Amino acid sequence: MSAFERAITIDDLRVLTRSRLPRALYDYIEGGAGDEATLVSNGARFAAYRLLGRALAGTATRDQSVELFGRRLPSPVIVAPTGGSGLFWPAGEAEVARACAAKGTVMMVSAGATLSLEDIAVAAPGPKWLQLFIYRDRGITRDFATRAAGAGYEALCLTVDCPIIGPRERDLRNGLSANPRLTLRTCLDAARHPRWWLRMGRRPRIGFPNYARHGAGPLRDMHAFVAGVLDPTVGWKDLEWLRGIWSGPLIVKGIMRGSDATRALAIGCDAIQVSNHGGRQLDQTIATIDALGEVATAVEGRIPVLLDGGIRRGTDVLKAVALGARAVAVGRAHLWGLAAAGQRGVEKALAILSGEIDCAMAIGGWDSLRDLDRSSLRDDAGRPIGSPPVDPVQSSPVAVAR
Ligand SMILES: Cc1cc2nc3c(=O)[nH]c(=O)nc-3n(C[C@H](O)[C@H](O)[C@H](O)COP(=O)(O)O)c2cc1C
Repeated sequence: MSAFERAITIDDLRVLTRSRLPRALYDYIEGGAGDEATLVSNGARFAAYRLLGRALAGTATRDQSVELFGRRLPSPVIVAPTGGSGLFWPAGEAEVARACAAKGTVMMVSAGATLSLEDIAVAAPGPKWLQLFIYRDRGITRDFATRAAGAGYEALCLTVDCPIIGPRERDLRNGLSANPRLTLRTCLDAARHPRWWLRMGRRPRIGFPNYARHGAGPLRDMHAFVAGVLDPTVGWKDLEWLRGIWSGPLIVKGIMRGSDATRALAIGCDAIQVSNHGGRQLDQTIATIDALGEVATAVEGRIPVLLDGGIRRGTDVLKAVALGARAVAVGRAHLWGLAAAGQRGVEKALAILSGEIDCAMAIGGWDSLRDLDRSSLRDDAGRPIGSPPVDPVQSSPVAVAR
């Protein structure tokens, strides 16, 4: 049995990836901003919530399917947008697309993919959402929206927690950020991973084709290019503008407080994604699982709330659902699968999570995800979960248009 076949948890896939990728790439996936306090909290804070199962409530089968924008998905786990996936496996985004299609889940495609959004769309059938930013040149954002519609993307996802690129210190040390450079350490480390070199060597040079028509150069200039096109002045009027030019489902990714969720809802957004970019942007902000309750309360079920950040276990997913998430998106969990074994690895990561969800539902006595709510949770001392704190900005009500 290979090490890949022996992997039974998401963490096993992470460990496999650490031995298979050059250190700088492993760090690029795993790392966060600054002291990585938020990165650590995203995972650790799930332990502050405990599941409280129901006795003698068994069923032969459990239903973990969810509905999103009129589609029924077999599991509440979708794939988060991640830039640069082709660095970890050749044509990485196509592998992810095929895995998502095989599992029937949604792939959120990053604007920073190493394949064009059109090539990813035809790589495999299955629902895809395009993630994008508001750029200094609004024409770039408009162009992404037009291309997404033309290529059959079902939704747009606007990332709002990235007005500038976060301080990812591992990348700085490894020479992967501004002024990228090949240090002796980087070269020696890469030489220790001949399988990765061999695999990647068979493929054409990696680039960022979605940005090519907007002036992006080779991989080594990418950080500077993205830093130059992102708009640090992005505001609510820009969300209104995007809402005006895109009539399909619009998800806002990177919301962490109830008042912001209410405001996005008033503008006509179709889903809120509670996210802190996997701890890669604002360090020292709170964990997403701690932000979820306030956002879900503010939204009052009028549109779906999604969550990402720190999902490593099926029980993490159930805790998020109990606190009000319709579905969760996984970033690193699917990338560790990708780096370990391409499409098979992503499928395995998704299968691990849905298997763990099913197992916990069977033992906890939950036939369907609808059975889970706050009463299914306790804090880590066994006390009921309190009401989420009131967001002070909420006291100035925003008119809800829909
Ligand atoms: C390597 C990597 C690249 C990412 N690239 C993007 C991106 O291009 N756009 C975006 O909105 N989020 C990006 N993210 C953030 C993810 O979409 C998601 O918010 C985060 O990974 C969730 O946390 P998790 O990795 O703990 O699941 C990236 C995350 C990682 C790990």
